[in-house]
Amino acid sequence: MEQISVISQIQARVQKARQEGKVISLVPTMGYFHEGHLSLMRYARKHSDLVLVSLFVNPTQFGPGEDFEAYPRDLERDKKLAQEQDVDILFTPGKEEMYLLNHLTYVRVDKLDKFLCGRSRPTHFQGVCTVVLKLFNICQPDFAVFGQKDWQQLIIIKKMVEDLNVGVKVVGHPIVREPDGLAMSSRNVYLSKEERKQAANIYQGLLLAKKLVEQGEVETSRIKERVQNFYQEQIPLGKLDYLEIVHPFELTSLERIEDKALMAVAMQVGKARLIDNLLLRGSLDV
Ligand code: PAF
Repeated sequence: MEQISVISQIQARVQKARQEGKVISLVPTMGYFHEGHLSLMRYARKHSDLVLVSLFVNPTQFGPGEDFEAYPRDLERDKKLAQEQDVDILFTPGKEEMYLLNHLTYVRVDKLDKFLCGRSRPTHFQGVCTVVLKLFNICQPDFAVFGQKDWQQLIIIKKMVEDLNVGVKVVGHPIVREPDGLAMSSRNVYLSKEERKQAANIYQGLLLAKKLVEQGEVETSRIKERVQNFYQEQIPLGKLDYLEIVHPFELTSLERIEDKALMAVAMQVGKARLIDNLLLRGSLDV
């Protein structure tokens, strides 16, 4: 595996691969790899000839007071893990390489960035879209793979690609969970032992909602109330940011479940802001 930190070098490698007719994939990450990231790399490996993984803790997607400085970093461990997945190139640009000192351009997907996480993180998705579009322009992949844990991020990136005619296929890959159900996240390392134990109930709450829907409940207010009560009992260390039942693609809140519905949750547990989601009805095919 090669490690490249300079944009012009990765562009030269990509150009050569293109001329050779290779299928190029990109897995954008902020590092501190866990099984979720590795599953994205394995998908990319299986479906392309040249696998690029970018590792960049993107400052523009963190708001004031968020965990940019504290975000876990371990390049040597990440290099080893990426190598084990047979990644071809780990792209590790520095902040100055990605953002010129006089950087002025930001990409925003209107409306979709106002729901769910957008309410408490108003500039987050603008930072994500800007860096992802830059990575797409630099790496020119045929497709890029993102985890479905960040469901809103995935929907927003798909919309950006559609609206701006970006020639990259955006692939969503299923959430990878710990044995007790907690969605894998680099931020899980912030959790104390007790917080970690309680955090597993985030997923149990989503499963409770799904069970209620399967039993015929369609009123979302009743489902949310049951799950909120469950969280209060089972995750006393958690502070709920939101618990919503939304249309999976439009991200608008639903009052009744008639067709497709996705439950999404964000909760602060100790120092970790955790998010998760589960499809309650319908399929995720667009
Ligand atoms: O999901 C992430 O890790 C980040 O938001 C991403 C897509 C790599 C952009 O920085």
